[in-house]
Amino acid sequence: MAGTAVFKTVLAPMQDITVRPFMALLASERYGAPDCFVTEFLRVHSTSGIDEDIVETLCDEPPLGVPIVLQLIGEDIEALLRVAGEALTAFPRTVGIDLNMGCPAPKVYKKAVGGGLLKDLPHAFEILRELRTLCNDFGKKLSVKCRLGFENTDALPRLLDGLCGIGLDEVTIHGRTVRGLYRDPVDYKSIALAARVLGEAGVPVIANGDISSAEKAREIVGETGCAGVMCGRHAIRNPWIFRQMRDEKCIPTFSDLFDYIVDLEAVVKREGDSRERVAARMKKYLNFVGTGIDADGKFLYGMRRSRTPEEIFEIAQKFCLGDRAELPFPREAYAGVIARPNCE
Ligand SMILES: Cc1cc2nc3c(=O)[nH]c(=O)nc-3n(C[C@H](O)[C@H](O)[C@H](O)COP(=O)(O)O)c2cc1C
Repeated sequence: MAGTAVFKTVLAPMQDITVRPFMALLASERYGAPDCFVTEFLRVHSTSGIDEDIVETLCDEPPLGVPIVLQLIGEDIEALLRVAGEALTAFPRTVGIDLNMGCPAPKVYKKAVGGGLLKDLPHAFEILRELRTLCNDFGKKLSVKCRLGFENTDALPRLLDGLCGIGLDEVTIHGRTVRGLYRDPVDYKSIALAARVLGEAGVPVIANGDISSAEKAREIVGETGCAGVMCGRHAIRNPWIFRQMRDEKCIPTFSDLFDYIVDLEAVVKREGDSRERVAARMKKYLNFVGTGIDADGKFLYGMRRSRTPEEIFEIAQKFCLGDRAELPFPREAYAGVIARPNCE
């Protein structure tokens, strides 16, 4: 692994994506690990436990020793303390707990969890104070991942003021409101404001939202004064993105990208899965990979119609091997090629 980035790099938590095999793949020599992983969110309520994917992610030594943070989503203080305590006891290698205050799915925020917590800041701060005490008892970190507000950014000063007083180890700001989903332009000016206010209280801020390349990461860190960046969809599309933040000479080719697509089959495969099931799981990743393959979205079109991994590889071969094999894989996605038309 060449060099170190001058800022912190984090892989964003993503449901059904940031499972242990994907973290291990990114951490392998072929790609490039971030400085920290965060699990997909674990939904916490009065009777919830720790689900299988989270157990698999946390139960062993983290891949290449990259620290893993457990993300929780919930609003019931007692339940959050119980599950956090159980997880930190069962998986002592977990470096900390992160509270999700940003999920924009209506079925989530309507229950006043995730992004819904931004509508009730006193309750959100109470949860955080209690989790702070618990994490201190375990000698673990506590962080928050939040958006800029619910409908708009009017309450951002109140949000930042409250977060300053809790003793958080880190705050990640996704520079959109909950209503802005994944589509609105990212408001890096508000992220810069958060970095300044929280920075004065000694809390590092990580910038999140459309950090699409190593170049953009450097630019945004410079512009906002953040301590680091968190990348989600663009790290699925370009698994070299964190390495490129440390090493400008890392230039993968389309042939390397083909190998990545082959590696993804191993990431998603579970014992007893049908070939159709494996293909369906691969598509969750390939929807994002496809935004960097061709400007007309033809790879995505063919990939979405494939029923098995073999059919996917056939399409991938057409776009990644032959004449294109030695071409550099573009650092940015193609504008207008949409990963998930119904979501973004
Ligand atoms: C498929 C998918 C699943 C996600 N799941 C989570 C999650 O479990 N927890 C969370 O805090 N954010 C989740 N997010 C949001 C991302 O962590 C991140 O904030 C968002 O994608 C913006 O960053 P990006 O532009 O780098 O992708 C998810 C995003 C996507 C696309």
